[in-house]
Amino acid sequence: MSDKLIDAANAVRARAYAPYSDFQVGAALRSVEGHVHVGCNVENVAYPEGTCAEAGAIAAMIAAGDTRIAEIAVIANASAPVPPCGGCRQKIAEFAAGDVVVTMATTSGATLSMTVAQLLPGRFDAGHMDVAGGAT
Ligand code: THU
Repeated sequence: MSDKLIDAANAVRARAYAPYSDFQVGAALRSVEGHVHVGCNVENVAYPEGTCAEAGAIAAMIAAGDTRIAEIAVIANASAPVPPCGGCRQKIAEFAAGDVVVTMATTSGATLSMTVAQLLPGRFDAGHMDVAGGAT
């Protein structure tokens, strides 16, 4: 079921702008609305300003008017499937239920699938901002 997403992620990976790390990453997600959105990492000479592939795919989803992630795949040319960074786990969790599957893949065909809840247990969510008696 994720093959189409992995293919889409690999295709956009070729467009990654990663001259500093030379580590090209592609991500593709299927929205609950049924569309595929893709993103790649885009680095910057001021290194922290770079953006991850997952963030790009999420931005594309929101810009297209879709709202939620049904599944997501990430691919890189690595010796083992590369997991989303901590920040991207939180970004994915903003738009995905805990049981949404994240498929991590390598260009040589290895895959590892985990759920959002497995990748980000105990995540911060809006409920943590509840204040007894109401927020002030
Ligand atoms: N990167 C991603 O785009 N997604 C990940 O899941 C892991 C890391 C990017 C960020 C940076 O451009 C490069 O990979 C090396 O960290």
